[in-house]
Amino acid sequence: MPLLAVETSCDETSGAVVDNGRVLANVVSSQIKLHAEYGGVVPELATREHLRNLLPVAREALQQSSLATTDLDAIAATRGPGLPPALLIGWTAAQAAAYSLNLPLIGINHIEAHLYSPWITGEPPSENFDAFEPNVSLIVSGGHTMLVHVRSLLDHTVLGSTLDDAAGECFDKIAKLLGLAYPGGPEIDHLAENGNPAAHNFPRPLLDRPNDDFSFSGLKTSVRYFLDKNPKLKTDAEELPHLCASAQAAIVDVLIKKTIRAANRETVNCITASGGVTCNRSLRKQLAVACEKNGLQLRLAPANLCTDNAAMIGILAEQKLNAGENPAPIETGIMPAKGL
Ligand code: KG4
Ligand code: ZN
Repeated sequence: MPLLAVETSCDETSGAVVDNGRVLANVVSSQIKLHAEYGGVVPELATREHLRNLLPVAREALQQSSLATTDLDAIAATRGPGLPPALLIGWTAAQAAAYSLNLPLIGINHIEAHLYSPWITGEPPSENFDAFEPNVSLIVSGGHTMLVHVRSLLDHTVLGSTLDDAAGECFDKIAKLLGLAYPGGPEIDHLAENGNPAAHNFPRPLLDRPNDDFSFSGLKTSVRYFLDKNPKLKTDAEELPHLCASAQAAIVDVLIKKTIRAANRETVNCITASGGVTCNRSLRKQLAVACEKNGLQLRLAPANLCTDNAAMIGILAEQKLNAGENPAPIETGIMPAKGL
C-alpha cells in the first residue's frame, strides 16, 4: 500500500513515501538557517517556506521512490499539534491531493507519530514492528517533553508532560543567555563535550516529585541568575564548556531519572526516545548506561528520524489504516492545539 505523507507542523517541510512498513523516501527541507537570525521559529516565515517547499519536497519523495501519484493508495498528513498556519499548509495540500486523486486521507497526531519513529529501523524494514515491545517513550523536542506508556501499537497513555518550557526550549534559552547561536541544543551539546558537568550545581526541577511531569523554566531562570551574579564567566572561553556541561547535565539528569522511574513503575522492559533533543549525545550515552543498569531495552530513533519528518507520519498512518481506522472526511480541520 504505497502512501504519501507530509509534515509541516513547525520548521521542517517533509514528504515521505512508505509502503508496507518500508520507507521508500523521506525528504526533509529544514528551515533552521532561516529562523536562526531571529533566535526562534517565526510562524509567518515558517508558513511561507512550507508553501514554497511542500510541492517540490513531495515531488522529490515520489521521484526517489520511483512512484507516480497514480500508484498511491492513501495520503497522510500531520493534523496537529503544531503552529496552526504551518499545519494548514500541509493539511490543506493533503486534502486537495486526496480529493483530486480520490484517495483516503489520514490525519496524524504529530506526537503520536514520534512514539513510533524509534521502531523505523527494522531490517528488513517490513520487520519494523515485529520487534515491538510495550514501552515507556520519552518525547523530547523544542515544543514537547512528555512521557508516554505505549502498551501496544496504537494504545498509549500520557504519563506526564512539561508544565512550562520543553527541554529543547530550555536548551535554546540557556544557549541564548550564553550568547550561542540558535538552535542552542546542538551548540551546548558540542561545547559540553569539553566541560565538567559537576562544575556548577544547577537545579533538577521536579525530580523529587513522585509524578511524571517536567518543568524547565526554573532551570533556565537559575542559569540566568547565576550569570547575572557572575557576568565575566559568560565571556570566558575556558568557563563556557563547564557552564554548558553543567546546564546540560541538569536537563539530562531529570529526563533520564524520570524516564527510568516511570519504566520501572509501569513494569515495561523497554524505553524509547524521539524528538530533536534525542540527538543530544550525553542523553543518548547516559540513557544507554541507565537502561543497561536497570535491565531495560533501549530504542532510540536514529538522528534523521529524531527531528520532524514525514516518514514517521506515513508509518503511523499505515498502521492506522491496517488497523481499520476510518480515513478523515476531506473537510476535517486541523487539530486543536493540544497534546496527545
Ligand atoms: O524535534 P525538533 O527538530 O523540533 C521540534 O521542536 O518539534 O527539535 C528541535 C529541538 C531544539 O530545541 C534543539 O535545540 C533541540 O531539539 N536539539 C538538541 C540537539 N539537537 C537538537 N538539544 C540538545 N542537544 C542536541 N544535540
Ligand atoms: Zn516533533
